[in-house]
Amino acid sequence: MNLILMGLPGAGKGTQAKYIVDRYGIPHISTGDIFRAAIKDQTPMGVEAKKYIDKGDLVPDDVTSGIVKDRLSEDDTNKGYMLDGFPRTLQQANNLEEITSDLNKPLDAVINIDVNPDTLVERLSGRFICKNCGATYHKLYKMPKVKNTCDVCGGHEFYQRSDDKPETVKNRLDVNIKMNTPLIDFYKSKNILFTVDGNQSIEDVTKDIVKILDQFTV
Ligand code: AP5
Repeated sequence: MNLILMGLPGAGKGTQAKYIVDRYGIPHISTGDIFRAAIKDQTPMGVEAKKYIDKGDLVPDDVTSGIVKDRLSEDDTNKGYMLDGFPRTLQQANNLEEITSDLNKPLDAVINIDVNPDTLVERLSGRFICKNCGATYHKLYKMPKVKNTCDVCGGHEFYQRSDDKPETVKNRLDVNIKMNTPLIDFYKSKNILFTVDGNQSIEDVTKDIVKILDQFTV
């Protein structure tokens, strides 16, 4: 199963990705996670990407597409993959067409998590993350079951992403909203777009996604 999970910042891509990759046993390829790891390791690519991410801008298409090409060339994607946060521009979508065709790993489905933009600021500003394992929580919608303790790894330290600060969030949303409609139209025209209502609870969004993806496993 070769998939894209798309949606505006805060739509719930990372949250849903965890369930999907566990259920279907495919690797999760998040360009945002790849950039954050490179920033942490202070690689040349990370240093370059940080300049854009800190402002809420998109990292240039050639850099991002190159990363995805390398990652999709790895053997663990032969049985399927789930891209999260890529493509984000029409140029990236066209690059991906070329990459998947060269590698003979064509897309089966694009899941678009559709959320009212007004709620996204609240989603992003309330998000906090486990420092040890990266599990994502929300001050209102997804608190750890035991106070100050990560459900997944038992860690006690949490942080807020630097690009979730209010001054960056506004630009991130503006930039991504502008790019979103042409991308949706691109995949609609290929008849592989499935849109789910991301305004529901986390569990209900998961159920809707599973309903769609289970069709591809028979
Ligand atoms: P990236 O890391 O991909 O960030 P993003 O797209 O902005 O998405 P987020 O990770 O912020 O949100 P999400 O949809 O995963 O939401 P989450 O599940 O955490 O990219 C970061 C940056 O890297 C970009 O800004 C850009 O600079 C660069 N970049 C990455 N890819 C690029 C590309 N292809 N091209 C160029 N540049 C690129 O949920 C958010 C919160 O809401 C959480 O707290 C969660 O608990 C909560 N929540 C989730 N679902 C629900 C629900 N249904 N109800 C209530 N709360 C919910």
